[in-house]
Amino acid sequence: MQSEACYIGLMSGTSMDGIDAALVSFPDQGLKLHATHSVPYPHDLRERLHRLSQNQGGPDEIGEMDHQLGVLFGEAAQRVMEAGNLTSSEIAAIGSHGQTIRHQPRGQCSFSLQLGDPNIIVEQTGIATIADFRRRDMAAGGEGAPLVPAFHRAFFGKSGENRCIVNIGGIANISWLPGDDPDQASGFDTGPGNALMDAWCHHHTGRHYDENGRLAQEGEINEDLLEDMLSDGYFAQAAPKSTGKEKFNLAWIQTVLSRHPELSMADVQRTLLQLTVTTIAQQLDELPAEMVYLCGGGVRNPELVAALTQACPRHQIASTDALGMDPQWVEATAFGWLARQTLNANTGNLPKVTGARGKRILGAIYQP
Ligand SMILES: Nc1ncnc2c1ncn2[C@@H]1O[C@H](COP(=O)(O)OP(=O)(O)O)[C@@H](O)[C@H]1O
Ligand SMILES: [Mg+2]
Repeated sequence: MQSEACYIGLMSGTSMDGIDAALVSFPDQGLKLHATHSVPYPHDLRERLHRLSQNQGGPDEIGEMDHQLGVLFGEAAQRVMEAGNLTSSEIAAIGSHGQTIRHQPRGQCSFSLQLGDPNIIVEQTGIATIADFRRRDMAAGGEGAPLVPAFHRAFFGKSGENRCIVNIGGIANISWLPGDDPDQASGFDTGPGNALMDAWCHHHTGRHYDENGRLAQEGEINEDLLEDMLSDGYFAQAAPKSTGKEKFNLAWIQTVLSRHPELSMADVQRTLLQLTVTTIAQQLDELPAEMVYLCGGGVRNPELVAALTQACPRHQIASTDALGMDPQWVEATAFGWLARQTLNANTGNLPKVTGARGKRILGAIYQP
């Protein structure tokens, strides 16, 4: 029997690769990762999600995906509980991010849509489930994203040391954690992380991602293409800002490429990698961080990490492993922590990050 409460965080990011589940507890203000489990999305589900995120599919499709994902999230929670040798009575809550199919934080009718019915997760697991983390922040005028900087601040901030955390998922986000004043912590989405590289690789090879950056390695950066991509208004936009696959997708690549018709597939792949690198490096350049810690799936792409290290000679770059947390599980763990915040009626957003009018308790609790 666990002495301190355990939580399950379920993360399914913009890469749409699957569900990461983390079973965590928070003893003595610290953090303990008890078990992890990943559930890759089946191929057809992934294809349907991609279509939905491109606005192809009506209410039936959305409803069915919401149900199917709810079942998969519930299973992921059960598997991670088994891996940790715990039973539902020992888990205080599940925090489920849900699968984003549309994120539109700007405009008069801003919204963000995550699928994975939490009612089904509760029924399958018997554990209180907290979901819909973004929309309260949005109702308070915020972007609803990114939400992980609050977790980064709570567990990775260090007095006397300026740090940045860079999470490279489908979209990349940065957290700035100043060593002298934790209240000045901030963060935002820098733009594409792996999303464009994945989209291009998939379009040409059928593979979901460019394993270890091999295809990119065969190509060269095309400076004209890079410059053209960097002229997209998102990169110059001031924070708070957040983005998603509804913007940075294959159609976005093809629009820019129509002005550069002669390029090889590998050169485009390498240039897309550099776009991720440059847009992160430009932001890091403006921050006096001594240390930069990377997390998310992008850490597993050695070409990407090498190019980023090269682009940031002023910074020392490591992965969150150096902080005692495997980079693959940071986001799932963050949603375990966010569940705990909500269950204890504590706020979960950082208004400096999202632009919300104030701190808010995030999400809705589905009681067992
Ligand atoms: N061995 C690898 N080589 C290159 N890229 C990888 C590798 N492993 C994972 N990735 C990248 O990481 C992505 C998944 O990262 P993840 O952090 O799960 O993103 P998200 O939070 O958006 O789901 C994959 O889509 C892929 O682009
Ligand atoms: Mg993922």
